[in-house]
Amino acid sequence: MTRTQYYTATRIDGHIADADNSLGWLFALRQTEASKQEYPDFIADVGALAMGSTTYEWILDHEGLLEEPGRWPYEQPSWVFSSRELPSVPGADVRFVQGAVAPVHAQMVEAAAGRNVWVVGGGDLVGQFVDVGLLDDIILGVGSVFLGGGAPLLPRRITPPRLRLISATAHGEDFATLRYELISEPAG
Ligand SMILES: NC(=O)c1ccc[n+]([C@@H]2O[C@H](COP(=O)([O-])OP(=O)(O)OC[C@H]3O[C@@H](n4cnc5c(N)ncnc54)[C@H](OP(=O)(O)O)[C@@H]3O)[C@@H](O)[C@H]2O)c1
Repeated sequence: MTRTQYYTATRIDGHIADADNSLGWLFALRQTEASKQEYPDFIADVGALAMGSTTYEWILDHEGLLEEPGRWPYEQPSWVFSSRELPSVPGADVRFVQGAVAPVHAQMVEAAAGRNVWVVGGGDLVGQFVDVGLLDDIILGVGSVFLGGGAPLLPRRITPPRLRLISATAHGEDFATLRYELISEPAG
Protein backbone atom coordinates (compact mmCIF):
# COMPACT_ATOMS: atom_id res chain seq x y z
CA MET A 1 0.00 0.00 0.00
CA THR A 2 1.24 3.48 -0.87
CA ARG A 3 2.62 5.56 2.01
CA THR A 4 3.25 9.25 1.74
CA GLN A 5 6.61 10.02 3.31
CA TYR A 6 8.75 13.01 4.25
CA TYR A 7 12.30 11.72 4.07
CA THR A 8 15.00 14.29 4.64
CA ALA A 9 18.29 15.10 6.24
CA THR A 10 17.98 17.66 9.00
CA ARG A 11 20.28 19.38 11.40
CA ILE A 12 19.57 18.68 15.05
CA ASP A 13 18.55 22.34 15.37
CA GLY A 14 15.54 21.69 13.14
CA HIS A 15 16.72 23.17 9.85
CA ILE A 16 17.22 21.41 6.52
CA ALA A 17 19.28 24.09 4.75
CA ASP A 18 21.21 27.23 5.58
CA ALA A 19 19.74 30.69 4.98
CA ASP A 20 21.51 30.72 1.59
CA ASN A 21 20.04 27.25 0.77
CA SER A 22 23.43 25.58 1.23
CA LEU A 23 23.69 21.90 2.21
CA GLY A 24 27.39 22.27 3.06
CA TRP A 25 26.68 21.16 6.65
CA LEU A 26 25.26 17.88 5.31
CA PHE A 27 28.09 17.06 2.94
CA ALA A 28 30.59 17.59 5.79
CA LEU A 29 29.07 14.82 7.94
CA ARG A 30 30.93 11.52 8.26
CA GLN A 31 28.74 8.73 6.92
CA THR A 32 28.87 5.05 7.81
CA GLU A 33 28.36 2.24 5.28
CA ALA A 34 24.92 1.59 6.80
CA SER A 35 23.85 5.25 6.54
CA LYS A 36 25.05 5.41 2.90
CA GLN A 37 22.76 2.47 2.12
CA GLU A 38 19.64 4.13 3.52
CA TYR A 39 18.91 6.38 0.53
CA PRO A 40 19.17 3.64 -2.15
CA ASP A 41 16.90 1.43 -0.03
CA PHE A 42 14.42 4.27 0.41
CA ILE A 43 14.28 5.47 -3.22
CA ALA A 44 13.79 1.93 -4.53
CA ASP A 45 10.29 2.00 -3.01
CA VAL A 46 9.36 5.49 -4.27
CA GLY A 47 6.95 5.77 -7.22
CA ALA A 48 6.35 9.54 -7.32
CA LEU A 49 7.82 12.60 -5.66
CA ALA A 50 7.01 16.27 -5.01
CA MET A 51 9.06 19.32 -4.10
CA GLY A 52 8.79 23.09 -3.80
CA SER A 53 10.42 25.50 -6.19
CA THR A 54 13.39 26.42 -3.97
CA THR A 55 14.37 22.75 -3.78
CA TYR A 56 13.89 22.33 -7.54
CA GLU A 57 15.97 25.39 -8.33
CA TRP A 58 18.67 24.18 -5.94
CA ILE A 59 18.82 20.85 -7.81
CA LEU A 60 18.96 22.65 -11.18
CA ASP A 61 21.83 24.77 -9.98
CA HIS A 62 23.71 22.14 -7.97
CA GLU A 63 23.58 19.52 -10.73
CA GLY A 64 24.20 22.07 -13.52
CA LEU A 65 21.04 20.76 -15.19
CA LEU A 66 20.49 23.60 -17.60
CA GLU A 67 23.86 22.76 -19.19
CA GLU A 68 23.71 18.96 -18.64
CA PRO A 69 20.07 17.82 -18.46
CA GLY A 70 21.01 14.13 -18.32
CA ARG A 71 21.93 14.56 -14.67
CA TRP A 72 18.32 14.89 -13.36
CA PRO A 73 18.50 12.56 -10.35
CA TYR A 74 15.04 10.93 -10.39
CA GLU A 75 13.50 8.25 -12.63
CA GLN A 76 10.11 8.70 -10.96
CA PRO A 77 7.56 11.28 -12.13
CA SER A 78 8.19 14.47 -10.16
CA TRP A 79 5.79 17.28 -9.27
CA VAL A 80 7.18 20.76 -8.63
CA PHE A 81 5.01 23.29 -6.81
CA SER A 82 5.46 26.89 -7.96
CA SER A 83 3.41 29.95 -8.79
CA ARG A 84 6.12 30.95 -11.29
CA GLU A 85 7.16 29.68 -14.68
CA LEU A 86 10.31 27.64 -14.13
CA PRO A 87 12.71 26.11 -16.66
CA SER A 88 12.08 22.43 -17.35
CA VAL A 89 14.77 19.77 -17.72
CA PRO A 90 14.76 18.09 -21.15
CA GLY A 91 14.00 14.38 -20.84
CA ALA A 92 12.95 14.57 -17.18
CA ASP A 93 9.35 13.78 -16.17
CA VAL A 94 8.74 16.99 -14.19
CA ARG A 95 5.19 18.33 -13.82
CA PHE A 96 4.66 21.91 -12.63
CA VAL A 97 1.67 22.54 -10.38
CA GLN A 98 0.37 25.11 -7.94
CA GLY A 99 -2.28 25.48 -5.26
CA ALA A 100 -3.94 22.75 -3.20
CA VAL A 101 -1.86 19.64 -2.60
CA ALA A 102 -4.74 17.12 -2.30
CA PRO A 103 -5.57 16.81 -6.04
CA VAL A 104 -1.87 16.58 -6.86
CA HIS A 105 -1.45 13.90 -4.21
CA ALA A 106 -4.22 11.86 -5.87
CA GLN A 107 -2.31 12.02 -9.19
CA MET A 108 0.90 11.04 -7.44
CA VAL A 109 -0.67 8.02 -5.76
CA GLU A 110 -2.03 6.87 -9.11
CA ALA A 111 1.35 7.31 -10.80
CA ALA A 112 3.14 5.55 -7.94
CA ALA A 113 1.08 2.39 -8.63
CA GLY A 114 1.52 0.90 -5.18
CA ARG A 115 4.94 2.34 -4.45
CA ASN A 116 5.39 5.24 -2.01
CA VAL A 117 5.00 8.97 -2.51
CA TRP A 118 7.96 11.08 -1.39
CA VAL A 119 7.45 14.69 -0.35
CA VAL A 120 11.04 15.89 -0.70
CA GLY A 121 10.52 19.30 0.93
CA GLY A 122 10.81 22.05 1.88
CA GLY A 123 9.21 22.06 5.26
CA ASP A 124 6.20 24.23 4.48
CA LEU A 125 5.22 22.13 1.46
CA VAL A 126 5.33 19.06 3.71
CA GLY A 127 3.20 21.05 6.17
CA GLN A 128 0.59 21.55 3.45
CA PHE A 129 0.31 17.75 3.14
CA VAL A 130 0.07 17.44 6.95
CA ASP A 131 -2.67 20.11 7.02
CA VAL A 132 -4.95 17.92 4.91
CA GLY A 133 -4.06 14.62 6.61
CA LEU A 134 -1.99 13.27 3.71
CA LEU A 135 1.35 12.48 5.34
CA ASP A 136 1.96 9.01 6.82
CA ASP A 137 5.67 8.86 7.73
CA ILE A 138 8.49 11.20 8.69
CA ILE A 139 11.97 9.73 8.22
CA LEU A 140 14.82 11.94 9.40
CA GLY A 141 18.54 11.62 8.98
CA VAL A 142 19.56 13.85 11.87
CA GLY A 143 23.02 15.40 11.60
CA SER A 144 24.94 16.32 14.75
CA VAL A 145 25.10 19.99 13.82
CA PHE A 146 23.74 23.23 15.28
CA LEU A 147 24.02 26.34 13.12
CA GLY A 148 20.99 28.37 14.08
CA GLY A 149 18.63 29.55 11.33
CA GLY A 150 17.82 28.46 7.82
CA ALA A 151 15.00 26.55 6.14
CA PRO A 152 12.75 24.93 8.76
CA LEU A 153 12.26 21.16 8.95
CA LEU A 154 8.47 21.24 9.36
CA PRO A 155 6.90 24.49 10.57
CA ARG A 156 3.67 23.06 11.99
CA ARG A 157 2.30 22.12 15.41
CA ILE A 158 2.23 18.32 15.65
CA THR A 159 1.92 17.24 19.25
CA PRO A 160 1.59 13.90 21.09
CA PRO A 161 0.05 11.45 20.52
CA ARG A 162 0.06 12.14 16.76
CA LEU A 163 3.75 11.27 16.23
CA ARG A 164 4.74 7.70 16.98
CA LEU A 165 8.48 6.96 17.10
CA ILE A 166 9.01 3.70 15.23
CA SER A 167 12.80 3.46 15.41
CA ALA A 168 15.97 5.36 16.24
CA THR A 169 19.29 4.20 14.78
CA ALA A 170 22.71 5.68 15.52
CA HIS A 171 25.16 5.83 12.60
CA GLY A 172 28.53 6.73 14.09
CA GLU A 173 28.99 10.09 15.79
CA ASP A 174 27.56 12.41 13.14
CA PHE A 175 24.24 10.89 12.20
CA ALA A 176 21.09 9.17 13.52
CA THR A 177 17.98 8.03 11.67
CA LEU A 178 14.61 8.60 13.33
CA ARG A 179 11.47 7.08 11.87
CA TYR A 180 8.04 8.32 12.86
CA GLU A 181 4.52 7.41 11.89
CA LEU A 182 2.07 10.29 11.77
CA ILE A 183 -1.45 9.71 13.04
CA SER A 184 -4.02 11.89 11.28
CA GLU A 185 -5.95 14.33 13.42
CA PRO A 186 -9.45 13.07 14.17
CA ALA A 187 -11.97 14.84 11.93
CA GLY A 188 -14.02 17.61 13.58
N1 LIG B 1 18.32 18.62 3.88
C1 LIG B 1 17.65 18.06 2.88
O1 LIG B 1 17.69 16.83 2.70
C2 LIG B 1 16.75 18.91 2.05
C3 LIG B 1 15.61 18.34 1.46
C4 LIG B 1 14.78 19.16 0.71
C5 LIG B 1 15.08 20.51 0.54
N2 LIG B 1 16.21 21.01 1.10
C6 LIG B 1 16.56 22.44 0.95
O2 LIG B 1 15.74 23.14 1.86
C7 LIG B 1 15.37 24.40 1.29
C8 LIG B 1 13.87 24.47 1.26
O3 LIG B 1 13.47 25.68 0.74
P1 LIG B 1 12.01 26.30 1.06
O4 LIG B 1 11.76 26.26 2.51
O5 LIG B 1 11.94 27.58 0.31
O6 LIG B 1 10.98 25.25 0.44
P2 LIG B 1 10.54 24.70 -1.01
O7 LIG B 1 9.32 23.90 -0.72
O8 LIG B 1 11.64 24.04 -1.73
O9 LIG B 1 10.12 26.00 -1.85
C9 LIG B 1 9.11 26.85 -1.39
C10 LIG B 1 8.45 27.56 -2.57
O10 LIG B 1 7.70 26.61 -3.37
C11 LIG B 1 6.55 27.28 -3.89
N3 LIG B 1 5.37 26.60 -3.35
C12 LIG B 1 5.25 25.88 -2.20
N4 LIG B 1 4.00 25.41 -2.05
C13 LIG B 1 3.31 25.83 -3.13
C14 LIG B 1 1.97 25.65 -3.57
N5 LIG B 1 1.07 24.93 -2.87
N6 LIG B 1 1.59 26.21 -4.75
C15 LIG B 1 2.48 26.94 -5.49
N7 LIG B 1 3.76 27.12 -5.13
C16 LIG B 1 4.17 26.59 -3.96
C17 LIG B 1 6.63 28.73 -3.44
O11 LIG B 1 7.45 29.47 -4.34
P3 LIG B 1 7.03 30.14 -5.77
O12 LIG B 1 5.55 30.10 -5.89
O13 LIG B 1 7.60 31.51 -5.72
O14 LIG B 1 7.73 29.31 -6.80
C18 LIG B 1 7.44 28.60 -2.16
O15 LIG B 1 8.06 29.80 -1.76
C19 LIG B 1 16.02 24.45 -0.08
O16 LIG B 1 17.26 25.10 0.03
C20 LIG B 1 16.28 23.00 -0.42
O17 LIG B 1 17.34 22.81 -1.32
C21 LIG B 1 17.03 20.24 1.87
